Amino acid sequence: MNHLLSIEELDRPAIERIIAEAARFAEVSERAVKKVPALRGRMILNLFYEASTRTRSSFELAAKRLSADVVNFAPSGSSVEKGESLKDTVLTLSAHKPDAIVIRTPWVGSAELVTRWCSAAIVNAGDGKHEHPTQALLDVYTLRGRLGALDGLSLWIVGDLAHSRVARSNILAFTRMGARVTVAGPPTLIPRDMETLGCEVRHTLDELHDADVVYALRMQQERMTQAWVPSLREYATWYQVNARRLRPRQLLMHPGPVNRGVEISGELVDSPQSLISAQVEAGVAVRMAVLYELLAGASGPASSSLRPARPLRSQRQPDPHPQPA
Ligand code: CP
Repeated sequence: MNHLLSIEELDRPAIERIIAEAARFAEVSERAVKKVPALRGRMILNLFYEASTRTRSSFELAAKRLSADVVNFAPSGSSVEKGESLKDTVLTLSAHKPDAIVIRTPWVGSAELVTRWCSAAIVNAGDGKHEHPTQALLDVYTLRGRLGALDGLSLWIVGDLAHSRVARSNILAFTRMGARVTVAGPPTLIPRDMETLGCEVRHTLDELHDADVVYALRMQQERMTQAWVPSLREYATWYQVNARRLRPRQLLMHPGPVNRGVEISGELVDSPQSLISAQVEAGVAVRMAVLYELLAGASGPASSSLRPARPLRSQRQPDPHPQPA
């Protein structure tokens, strides 16, 4: 495998390996000079056709901390505004010989499509409602850091499942790591085939107290083409995660950005139960691990990425964790 397109293609050992590698890279962010030379001379292209704060900034930081060159692309101000297609944009920018392309678009399957047009390693940073694999990896990493193994944990994912690529990736990742996943939300916001991903489905929060971790999802109004709920106020009445519903022992997660007062009450976002800041922090180390796996394997990009684990220091060149460059 030369790309990271979905969690579906990762088994538990592959997830474990990326998490372990991320844990080793996390230390780089604590240094005075936050850089290692692991990807020096490599080029990463961030191709974002959709808005992003966390994913784009952390991929850029991850690449820079690995000493790669980074080009950031956004449609606004580019020739996309003159009608240039995704394919022609990729072909054009591929002339600059990127080693990896990190891509986010509103179109399901776009990351996979791009693999056919260029030789770079492709990382899916979100393709429509399909998947957001690095979000799931950083969420597993965050929970590992806080609770240890996920085996046997009860995780509830609450909210707008219908439009959420995070939910799809996270259900797959959490269940592969041994957790029990329950999804909850109004019937209009839970796709009918949800159970096929290996989770249980609830339409009320009556049993939310069973959860060890509650993962709230944003109401994605930008993807809603019809009235999926009567109103946001009514949605909040029945499904908002707030201090009345969350018990003190339970942890709270959210991929961001948060609609405070809709899917979560503002006070919980800022509470000690919230892991939201830890999730953002984890993003850099996990994305460093993914880029490193894809581009710095022993035999180069064509045969690298998410392969069987090897000890970083003993078998890989260059050592990704030497003193600052
Ligand atoms: N979680 C997430 O993907 O956030 P951004 O849209 O800000 O990247």
